[in-house]
Amino acid sequence: MKQQNVAVIVIPTYNEADNIGRMIEYLNSKTFPNIIAKKGDLTEAWNMKILVVDGNSPDGTGKVVEKEAKKYNNTFLLTETSKDGIGAAYLKGFKYAIDKLDADFVFEFDGDFQHPPETIPLMLKAMEEGYDYVIGSRKVKGGSNPKGWGFKRVFFSEFGGFVARFILFFPFKNFFKVTDPTTGLKVTRVKGFIDKMDLDWTGDRLLTKSFGYKLQLLFETLKMGAKFKEVPLQFHVRNAGESKIEAKTAKDIFRVAILLRWFDDFTQKFLKFGTVGFVGYLVNAIFLNVFSKSWSIEWLAWLLSTELAIVSNFTLNNIWTFKKQSISGPVALIGKFFQFNLSSAGALLIQTVVGSLGVKYLGVSRQLLLPFIIVFLVLPYNWFMYNTFIWKNKKK
Ligand code: GDD
Ligand code: MN
Repeated sequence: MKQQNVAVIVIPTYNEADNIGRMIEYLNSKTFPNIIAKKGDLTEAWNMKILVVDGNSPDGTGKVVEKEAKKYNNTFLLTETSKDGIGAAYLKGFKYAIDKLDADFVFEFDGDFQHPPETIPLMLKAMEEGYDYVIGSRKVKGGSNPKGWGFKRVFFSEFGGFVARFILFFPFKNFFKVTDPTTGLKVTRVKGFIDKMDLDWTGDRLLTKSFGYKLQLLFETLKMGAKFKEVPLQFHVRNAGESKIEAKTAKDIFRVAILLRWFDDFTQKFLKFGTVGFVGYLVNAIFLNVFSKSWSIEWLAWLLSTELAIVSNFTLNNIWTFKKQSISGPVALIGKFFQFNLSSAGALLIQTVVGSLGVKYLGVSRQLLLPFIIVFLVLPYNWFMYNTFIWKNKKK
């Protein structure tokens, strides 16, 4: 077994010649010695490395890093053929860090002193506590935006962050837990997370090679079940040089957020479930109309049309919504269909009880009550029953 955990600080750079030399010096002479001396509650002996992924910067950033790499044997340079987006640079860096540098943890870190190196030991501490994914947040107590930011800048950052949070996670727990989805400072455990991730930066694996990749990795890592924590980030102003964020970046990030949520398995399943439910309603209504016109037995028209809706719901959910958990074979199908009828009877009961009590004691109109009962009681009930009893995940 390895004695020490290797943490690689991955720093993408494009035209950071005035920053990167100082950054490497600072990390190696000020930050790492404290970590190695286990100051600030650290208990493990960490092996700290730096990997700069340079987009072949015309300003000579690579030359500066090469010089530092000669001086420090924990410092490495990976040069891209050309500027290819910060997201692609990180995936290349992660791959190199795992294959060549033996990384157990990879940091995402900016090369322009906007991320204070002092946050690194705080994040390592959290990793020692067993977290898999720790991000620096400007929004938690102790975190902050740069002092110099005007109202407009703060507004866009706050508003953009909130929108991203909302689109990605509302109304689930991560909506409340992830306060700073667009932050650039992160550390991720390699084992079980980065090593399970597709690191191919060519092709269309990344929804964007630009800054929106942050949201994609965040979304994917949380989806993998990472134990997650935020630490305060005091986001500083840039030391020198210019930001690579362009006007179109915000739009691109927004697009990525929408795509992530829309194509998420859960969303797709829920949309299909809703569609099937609506089709079931139409089947019910249409056949109720047909049957009640053909016969004079009122209850039979209700019973048969409702059962047809149940058949429609069962069939469509089985072949479409819950395709991955789909039931096949005549015996299993009959058994499940019986179970499904029971579950539907439960929904009917909820609707009948709450509906009649509501009309009697609250004095609300039926047509107003019905949609409320459906949305807040029957839908969640069905969703729960389907997922936990009818189409539960097959054990791997
Ligand atoms: N190799 C490579 N290729 N590096 C890049 C590229 C690229 O295409 N684009 C940017 N970088 C490098 C920069 O040189 C810098 O070291 C780091 O990535 C961050 O880029 P900045 O241009 O400084 O971004 P920013 O400061 O405006 O944005 C930061 O804050 C945002 C939150 O406000 C980043 O941390 C973002 O990720 C974060 O969302
Ligand atoms: Mn920056």
